[in-house]
Formats: sequence, structure tokens, C-alpha cells
Amino acid sequence: MTLWKGRFGTGGGSEAIKFTSSFPFDRRFYREDIAASIAHAEMLGATGIISPGQSKAIVSGLSRLRLLIDEQGFPDDADDEDIFSFVERRLGEMIGDPARALHTARSRNDQVATDFRLYVKGLCRRMALAICGLNASIVSVAARHPDAITAGMTHLQVAQPVLFAHQLMAYHEMLGRDLDLLDAAFDRADVLPLGAGALAGVPYPVDPKRVARSLKFGKIAANSMDAVSDRDFVLDFLYAATSTALHLSRIAEDICVLNSQPFSAITISDSYATGSSIMPQKKNPDVAELARGKSGRIIGRFTGLLATMKGLPLTYNLDMQEDKEAVFDVEENILPAISALDGLFATLEIDEERMLQLASMGNSSATDLADYLVGKGVNFREAHAVVGRVVRECVDRGTDLSTLGLDDLEQHSEAFGPDVLERLEPAWSVRARTSPGGTAPDNVASAIAIGQAKTESARKTWEARSLPWDDHDSHPED
Ligand code: ARG
Repeated sequence: MTLWKGRFGTGGGSEAIKFTSSFPFDRRFYREDIAASIAHAEMLGATGIISPGQSKAIVSGLSRLRLLIDEQGFPDDADDEDIFSFVERRLGEMIGDPARALHTARSRNDQVATDFRLYVKGLCRRMALAICGLNASIVSVAARHPDAITAGMTHLQVAQPVLFAHQLMAYHEMLGRDLDLLDAAFDRADVLPLGAGALAGVPYPVDPKRVARSLKFGKIAANSMDAVSDRDFVLDFLYAATSTALHLSRIAEDICVLNSQPFSAITISDSYATGSSIMPQKKNPDVAELARGKSGRIIGRFTGLLATMKGLPLTYNLDMQEDKEAVFDVEENILPAISALDGLFATLEIDEERMLQLASMGNSSATDLADYLVGKGVNFREAHAVVGRVVRECVDRGTDLSTLGLDDLEQHSEAFGPDVLERLEPAWSVRARTSPGGTAPDNVASAIAIGQAKTESARKTWEARSLPWDDHDSHPED
């Protein structure tokens, strides 16, 4: 069914309808649409734009329709153009004539923007809660292994020893920024466009503030043309998801590296790994790899919608219908990726001994030796050159700084004394890095405590964010 037959002599071409129809995918936000229609009909009744009887009949019909769809889904043979046409047709079948008053003082342009804003707000919430779960699992690995020392890498070369918990808390920071982005995306979506009509506003005494209160929107749109043409909130969500996907891909890459045989620093649980069809010995980090790979698709969806939006004239254009599948596709891929990495961390095994071996490789105490010389009055540039020569000798002899004795060092500088030997220990190196945000154990212990508290408070904040229905934890498509 279409909502616009009057103007069309031939009733519209079936190919055109098939091509432009959004019902196959916009049915996904029927709950948002029905909630918005209920709020709209209540407002129409309260302001006298339609009669109280019409308003009541519409509201009770829509509530019944919502339950019916919850229970039975959509009929296979429904060939409506979009979710709006479906709802209006079914409402008409259920309550008769009053249904024909529902679309007074609104257009599908402000309706779709309203529905999708509600949907994106709910999705921000679901995604933020999933990230809080992942972050909680990451912090709990850190809390279980507060003393494990590993090789901090730059250029994928051993650089300086760090606490593994410090590395985990770096992931926590990255994902914390994604929570901030979702916060911003939620806030940008939190503006009610209903009342803008097609683009110019409506010639009825509507009360958008009342509708905003019912639908739990924080603000109402200031400009009707912007209200129907703005999709920044979608791009903001997609950017938040892209940033998250990018972070997941970097975390997943570290997991793949640390899990590889040459590193053997962590073991992924059998339940988060898969095997090979030909090589019986294989246990592959497929979950991490796919989480890494999903970033490509998500970046593509984000840049795809950016390109769609670029150069669109004000106000509404059907190009903008493309925002739905972009968001749904991102949702379907990012949520399982977050949850899979959450499970992977929750079941991850750490080999602390092996990590310490890695931390001692690659002359990783070189900076500490240079810093030691600085403490003895040598300027840093000179100290760097001296230790560089020591390292060169190690490389030539096929040994490592960690195996040197005082005699070896004394040949390079008189400033070396017996107290230098402890500087070759990764534990010393880590303990010394007390600068703010550094890897010293006390710093990391407090970062873990702060991280736990932050994640918990973010979870509470997101849980408290309300949407216009009670059971907003789940979504029918999940
Ligand atoms: N299906 C459209 C979308 O998703 C909304 C309704 C289109 N409005 C219109 N005037 N054709 O953006």
C-alpha cells in the first residue's frame, strides 16, 4: 500500500515502488514508529487538532498493533511501501475511520527523522553497555595480573618493559573514548524533529514540547528545514562505531600477535578459537581476526553515508533513506564483535613467565642504562651514545644487555658502578616509571581502580537513560 495514490493516474509504477520501498528494512523500527505515532496522536487530541475520541481510538489501536507485531511479526505478503504505510493501513483495518486522522500535522519526513533518532538513541545505549561489558572484562584481566611484566613494543620491536596491566588499561582508555563519542552521538540524536512537517512547519497549533516529553527527547528542533534534512546524528553514531571498530581491530591485532607461537604470551580459550580443516594441530585466533576485519566494513558504511550526504540540497531527499541499512549493518557487525572480544578477554590465559622473557629481550633495558648515566652526571646525548655502543657490542657478540656484568659495562664508561646491575632488571625499569600515566605499579593499581569505577559509573549512566518504552534492553532484531 502507498499513502499517495491520489495524484497518480496510473497508481505509480511497480518497478519504481519496488526500487524505492523501504519496508523490507524500516520495519525494524516499528516500535519507535508506533511510540512516536502514539505521542503524536495524544498531542493532536490534547491540542484539539483532532477530537478526543479520534485520539483515544488511535492510541488504543496503535498499542494493540504494537503487541500484535511483537507477538506475530509481519505478515509475509505485506507489500507496503514503508513501515509508515503498513502501520497506517493496519490501524485503519483495526479501528476504521479515526485512523485517517493520524497523519494530520505531520509528514513522513519529520516522522522518519523522529523514528530514526529514537532508534539511534537506543542503539547508542545498547552499544555503550556492550562496551562497558568489554571494558569490565579487560580491567578484570588487569586486576588478576597486576604484576605481570611484558615487552612494551614500538614498531613491533621490543622497546621497554611495561606491566601487561598497563597495556590493558591503554585498551580501556581507547574504549572509554568511544563511550564519550557515543555520549555525543546520543546527545545529537536527542532532538525532536516532529512538528517540522514536510519541511516548512505545519499550520496547526501543535505542541512539540509535549511530544518531546512523551518520547523522552531532551530538545526540540529549532528549524523545520534542518529538522527534516539533518542526518548528522547518524554520521555521529557511525563515526563512534567506526572509532570503536578501529580500536577493536588494534586490540585484536595485539591479541593475534601475543597469541602466536613465537610470542606465546597469552592463550585464547578453546571456546574463542577455531581449527583448520587440513592441519589438525591448528588453533586459530579467528574471533580476534574477524573482529579486526569487521573494521573495514564499518569504515565503509561510515564513508559511504558521508558520500551519500555530500552535496544533497535542502531539505529531504530519498538518498537519505540509505542511512538505515548503513546503521543496521554496522549494528549487526559491531555488537557481536564487541561481545566476542568480551568473551575472549573473560576467558584469556596469561603466561606471566613468558611475558617476562619477552620483556628481557631486545636490549630492553638500554634506556634505563642511559638514564642511570644521566643520574651520574653524564648528559643524556652522551649517555645515549655510550649505551648505543654497549648495545652494538651485545649485537656483535650475539648476547643481550640483560646478560652483561659490571666488567663489560665499565669498559664503556667510568660512570658505571655496581648499582647499575639492578637497572638491567625489567622490574626495576617498570618501578622507575612513576611519571603520571607511566607504568609504575602504583600508577597502574590506581588506574585499575579508577577504570573499574569509571566503567561502573558509565554503565549506570547509560542504564538510566530512558527511552519511551520499558523493555528497551532488548530489540526484536537482536
Ligand atoms: N523511507 C524514507 C526514509 O527512510 C522515509 C519516507 C520518505 N519520505 C518521502 N517523502 N518519500 O528516509
